[in-house]
Amino acid sequence: MEIAGAICSENNIPDSIRKRYAKRNKGVRKMVIRTEKQEEHQIVEDLVYDVFKGTKFSDGFLEKELVKEIRSSRFYVPELSIVAVSDSGMIIGHIMLSKFPLSGKNEDKVLLLSPVSVDPSYQKQGIGMKMIETGLDMAEEMGFRGVIVEGSPDYYGKTGFENHKEFGLTAAAGIPGDYLMAQELIKDGFRGIEGEIDFSIYKCLA
Ligand SMILES: CC(C)(COP(=O)(O)OP(=O)(O)OC[C@H]1O[C@@H](n2cnc3c(N)ncnc32)[C@H](O)[C@@H]1OP(=O)(O)O)[C@@H](O)C(=O)NCCC(=O)NCCS
Repeated sequence: MEIAGAICSENNIPDSIRKRYAKRNKGVRKMVIRTEKQEEHQIVEDLVYDVFKGTKFSDGFLEKELVKEIRSSRFYVPELSIVAVSDSGMIIGHIMLSKFPLSGKNEDKVLLLSPVSVDPSYQKQGIGMKMIETGLDMAEEMGFRGVIVEGSPDYYGKTGFENHKEFGLTAAAGIPGDYLMAQELIKDGFRGIEGEIDFSIYKCLA
């Protein structure tokens, strides 16, 4: 898809999807955001492990395992495993969007955004944001209706995510509701497909 291989320039984004974002002019300019290649799976899994191992809240195993579980599930969408590549050819960031059922249904309409990883040496340069924006654009073009993410409202709020309750969605027991966010990719995207968000479809999250 066109956007996946685009140089990180605002010019390549169609007007129809440009509206979602405020214009951003900071960060690494010479960077490519594109779909991950099959031969890059191991590099990406190692990146995910290293990035999360460096945080206060994870040892990295869970997120790496999640990537592997998603890849081997029916929810995997290869085009939406997206990497950021530096001008020297290094993979410095990754996001994964995968199909996600609500109350066990509608998995072809909804996506889960997880995990999101940026190499610590390249954080706070707009790379995470640019990968998410690109991924949402691609997902919209592919016909998905909405996206779920669990994470900081401060961060995900910057790319248009809101609390899941705004869309009539509910959280399975044990999921902290304040950190459960959602975004419609089209107007009223969640209407008629509302349901419960339950991550126990994955062994590593159950
Ligand atoms: C969280 C993470 C993906 C952010 O990626 P990044 O490329 O550093 O973020 P960006 O540069 O695109 O940040 C964009 C904005 O979000 C802010 N931001 C970055 N990390 C943030 C965080 N953890 N919480 C709140 N805001 C954050 C930035 O300050 C910036 O704000 P601004 O546009 O007002 O200046 C990255 O720090 C990371 O990989 N962290 C470890 C793994 C992780 O926590 N993943 C997310 C799990 S839910």
